[in-house]
Amino acid sequence: PVAERVADLLARMTREEKVGQMLQLDAREGVEDHILRKHVGSILHTSPALVREAHDVTDRTRLRIPLLVGEDCIHGHSFFEGATIFPTQLGMAATWSPELVERMARATAVEVAATGIHWTFSPVLCIARDLRWGRVNETFGEDPHLIGELASAAVRGYQGQGLSDTTAILATAKHFAGYSETQGGRDASEADISRRKLRSWFLPPFERVAREGCRTFMLGYQTTDGVPITVNDWLLTDVLRGEWGYTGTLITDWDNVGRMVWEQKVQPDHTHAAAAAVRAGNDMVMNTPQFFEGALAAIDQGLLKESELDTAVERILTLKFELGLFEDRRRPDPVRIAQVVGSHQDLNLEIARRALVLLRNDGALPLLPPTAASTGSTTPPRRIAVVGPLADDAQTQLGDWAGSSGQVDWLPDGHPRAMITTVLDGLRAAVPQGWAVTHARGADILTLEPDPAGAFFPDGQPRPPVVVPAAPDEALIAEAVAAASQADYVVAVVGDRIELVGEGRSTATLDLVGGQVALLDALAATGTPLIVVLLASKPLVLPPAALSAAALVWAANPGMTGGRAIAELLLGDIEPTGRLPISFARHVGQQPTYYNQVRGQHGDRYADLTQAPAFVFGQGLSYTTVEYTDLVVETPEVTASDVVRARITLTNTGARPALETVQVYVSDLVTSASWAERELKAFTQVTVAPGASVTASIEVPASSCSILDGAGVRVVEPGAFELQVGPSSRAADLLTAPFTVR
Ligand code: IFM
Repeated sequence: PVAERVADLLARMTREEKVGQMLQLDAREGVEDHILRKHVGSILHTSPALVREAHDVTDRTRLRIPLLVGEDCIHGHSFFEGATIFPTQLGMAATWSPELVERMARATAVEVAATGIHWTFSPVLCIARDLRWGRVNETFGEDPHLIGELASAAVRGYQGQGLSDTTAILATAKHFAGYSETQGGRDASEADISRRKLRSWFLPPFERVAREGCRTFMLGYQTTDGVPITVNDWLLTDVLRGEWGYTGTLITDWDNVGRMVWEQKVQPDHTHAAAAAVRAGNDMVMNTPQFFEGALAAIDQGLLKESELDTAVERILTLKFELGLFEDRRRPDPVRIAQVVGSHQDLNLEIARRALVLLRNDGALPLLPPTAASTGSTTPPRRIAVVGPLADDAQTQLGDWAGSSGQVDWLPDGHPRAMITTVLDGLRAAVPQGWAVTHARGADILTLEPDPAGAFFPDGQPRPPVVVPAAPDEALIAEAVAAASQADYVVAVVGDRIELVGEGRSTATLDLVGGQVALLDALAATGTPLIVVLLASKPLVLPPAALSAAALVWAANPGMTGGRAIAELLLGDIEPTGRLPISFARHVGQQPTYYNQVRGQHGDRYADLTQAPAFVFGQGLSYTTVEYTDLVVETPEVTASDVVRARITLTNTGARPALETVQVYVSDLVTSASWAERELKAFTQVTVAPGASVTASIEVPASSCSILDGAGVRVVEPGAFELQVGPSSRAADLLTAPFTVR
């Protein structure tokens, strides 16, 4: 029995060993010292060689307590050359498919576990509202229900059949909680967020995965109400441990304990910071090396009792016993690595295909008429100019947290170029014989310069270089214009680059950076139908040339196979099925633009601009049209413990098949405290053949139609509600029908 083994081991540990067990350090910086001198319980940022070395060093310690090896494998195994890199989390959210996300997480766990890693710091459950924030790409978007569904699926996939399965890895729900609610989009700034807002929207996805058994939670970096999350008793103790009864393991974010000293300046030194962090209920401290000396000094000075370490150490040891690490360290396994790493490209392609969102189409797409798509024979030859700085950019395909890009800059060789299909590669391979594909870069995006503020932050971390937008280059534009002028279609691949994305990389604007806007303007002026493919990690503010283009596709960072999926979509070999998990603003000044804003404001316009986003949550086109009719609520009167049941008819009025995402919103017509006009409560995906009608069944637990009342209590308030069903969150797209809660 695990509990007995934990108690037995704990009783034999010295206080140094207990403090060390609570510490997770960066394996790249002196792994032997971490283990022999600081007795660390865990390492992160490894390679198989470092993992092997670390286990060998552990074998020389007194109790030989195995290490937990953690890593940020958040859309595939970012840290292993040649591993499968899927679309980013925001890209995957556009599939609206818990099933695909669960399969992605399972596949990732299989690859990750083979390389000796036991723990992934994924999924991200932050709600993305301010698009300037650099980590929007890591989220599942703006809606708590969609986030909850997809995060729950990811946790199931990572943790598999249970921790004793050697392909299971620990999942982490992060970043608890409210981290994304930044000031001006600035990463890790104070989260100006009320308890009401937290309980209404930001906490529910976390509560769900806590109750479903996500084994670890990671804190964010933020302070709220003046209290750093690291010592926030209300969130950590009252809510997480108390109300939700969470018994999993809590890890800080990177140097959160140190940050209370050098950054937030709410603790005088590491001794006090360590004591406060332990007392607040943190189990594992990520990368604050001084925690070791600090916690020991705190015990010496009477700021902390040794017994106060025990609960944390018990939780960590429990994970290690449940993973079976005392019997089998789960070291990197060369045979399994050869078999499984990088082996999930079929699934990767399936997800990339489903994740593409068609936002505009004046009929230019698909490029191949249906008969030609099936026979490949009757098409007149066409010329396609593929232009833009991202048309052949392998790194942007992968996005952040992928080898040799973004946060993972220590994987020297990254992922082999041959494994990555760019849009140019994809189109070249997919066009019918006789078609011509030409290529011109057309614009640059940015260059990098050293930060004048110095090379390092106060904690010794390197400061990233400063981004300098590239000026439009007339020669590059002229080359692209010449290619476009000689083509039947021009496909412009534009967006953002990794230097504008990620932790510590928020943007002040949402513009297409560098020469990209000038390029689009020049291409639009050629008169050749312009198809814009947006490889943008997050929604950007699009210039008129993109908003009025013949077609517009958002691909996020679509992963290794993304270019192939995009080519198939443009040609019409597949159907567009993705739907926006997040709204696109028209102007950076509209931030935030999420759909489920609380009611109550004067009108729907700024004096100088509409408040409507350019594209709203849930939107996305198909190559066919689907009509929604006959919404019938079968249970017009329910109690709060009932399920609201309804049905709706979908008719495919076009000539191509549809995979329709039926979105179900609920509006509580009158609430005792102000609330959103509508909230997503359910969704289902339905296949409808051309000309066919299908009835979709809808089920919404009435208990989910709750609000937070004035006293801060979640209640379903009896009264009149409206079920709103349709293909997006836009009022004009929704059929409505009343129901009553008694
Ligand atoms: O897991 C991440 C977290 O999301 C941001 N800070 C660093 C951690 C470890 O890399």
